[in-house]
Amino acid sequence: MKYYSRLFLLLCIFVVLALAGCGNVKSTNVGNLKFENPLKIPELLEPTLEPDGTKHFTLTMMQGTTEFLEGKTTDTWGINGSYLGPTVRVSRGDKVSFDVINQLGETSTLHWHGMMLPPEMDGGPHQMIEAGKTWSPHWKIDQPSATTWFHPHLHGNTAQHVYRGLAGMFIIDDEDSKKLPSNYGVDDIPLIVQDKLFTSDGQFSEDDDTTFGILGDEILVNGTHDPFLEVTSSQVRFRLLNGSNARAYTFGFTDERSFQLVANDAGLLQEPVTLERFMLSPGERAEIVVSFEPGEETILHSYKNGTGIASGEFDLLKIVAASELSESKQIEGQLSSVEPIEVPADAKVRQFRLSMDNKINDKSMDMSRIDEVVPAGGKEIWEIRNFGSEHNFHIHDAAFRVLDVNGKEPQEYERGRKDTVFVPHGATVRLAVEFGNYTDLKYPLMYHCHLLKHEDDGMMGQFLLVEPGTESQVPMQLTEVSEHHDH
Ligand code: C2O
Ligand code: CU
Repeated sequence: MKYYSRLFLLLCIFVVLALAGCGNVKSTNVGNLKFENPLKIPELLEPTLEPDGTKHFTLTMMQGTTEFLEGKTTDTWGINGSYLGPTVRVSRGDKVSFDVINQLGETSTLHWHGMMLPPEMDGGPHQMIEAGKTWSPHWKIDQPSATTWFHPHLHGNTAQHVYRGLAGMFIIDDEDSKKLPSNYGVDDIPLIVQDKLFTSDGQFSEDDDTTFGILGDEILVNGTHDPFLEVTSSQVRFRLLNGSNARAYTFGFTDERSFQLVANDAGLLQEPVTLERFMLSPGERAEIVVSFEPGEETILHSYKNGTGIASGEFDLLKIVAASELSESKQIEGQLSSVEPIEVPADAKVRQFRLSMDNKINDKSMDMSRIDEVVPAGGKEIWEIRNFGSEHNFHIHDAAFRVLDVNGKEPQEYERGRKDTVFVPHGATVRLAVEFGNYTDLKYPLMYHCHLLKHEDDGMMGQFLLVEPGTESQVPMQLTEVSEHHDH
């Protein structure tokens, strides 16, 4: 009892401090926008074909400059360009290979968030790409259709590398997903939402003076400030990615129209859910289908929804429907043919405590320590308890279904297949997790808070996927781990 009341007191103090920390951050842009810049659509990257049919892509991480604000030049990082990257789009069953070229002038990595693949190809903190070097991962796409993404994962520098602009969308199609609008840039639109703080001369401010990291007061969608989009069909699929370092968005439209949620992070829902609002914390994705009448206008908006990372209110994108709209595919009843993730009754339960000092189970990330050993292809219950402020939780090379939040059914918008979940302050979230099939004793996979400052601060653990039955024989220490050191 005493322990809990002390904990509660500490928690209160922490929450008050956390909120005070955000006090000086403007957290709205409402009323300031003119919606005058056409929304940029990241280019679809064309693969070259290798003799065995493998689709080969080249991604070059580079520095550059970008004009987001009229007349002001911002130093940025990008992939095959000055800010963000191209969209990669492939189908289930494709073999893919990449050359990831690092022209940043410093070490980075490129992680495939949401991808089921051999751990060595994951692009996490252990797959460092030194300045001037090329990393060439390859794997076979073998997972249900989904909107995934890629971004650096260099331990200690992830927040900075992503914030400067290194991120892109990675779309996987399958027979189910093709039933939805799929004409990229026409009725299938990526929306990468990021908040930024600008200095008076138009540079990205890197002052992360809140406990969550940078909470910006300007929004970029696909790297476009103050954007509008003209749509030309009656049904439009939007793929939303919260590519922000810390901010959560509660999406809706200013005319309160409803829309259909068709996918969570890791795949399509069994059937669409009609909604007016849904929230995405950093790293999460969702696909929605919105209907339009000729000539109408609406604004995609993010509503205030609590404190801390969810406290902002923003206009994101003005959408204008053309005076004539082409009819696009109507959504039919069933979407996904993939069964929801179920765990066996005797499934192993692992517990993870997130604390106010940004640790998981009282430990800070250690590149050479293995925290968990998981049978490959296994299904387990992971129970995440948040004793800290606001966090979320992401698992590499895995997909999960949220079983419950504080013992109750999860929100309507987070009942599908996911890989990242918001864990409210004080909450217990239970996940039914399905792990990847590839084993690796040398390269661990990560689980972590996707608030990037917390992740960099060590709110991350490592697990190995091993041959089922061999868990107890696996050493919990890695030898020959190279660490990244700042110079
Ligand atoms: Cu999007 Cu481990 O990250
Ligand atoms: Cu966190």
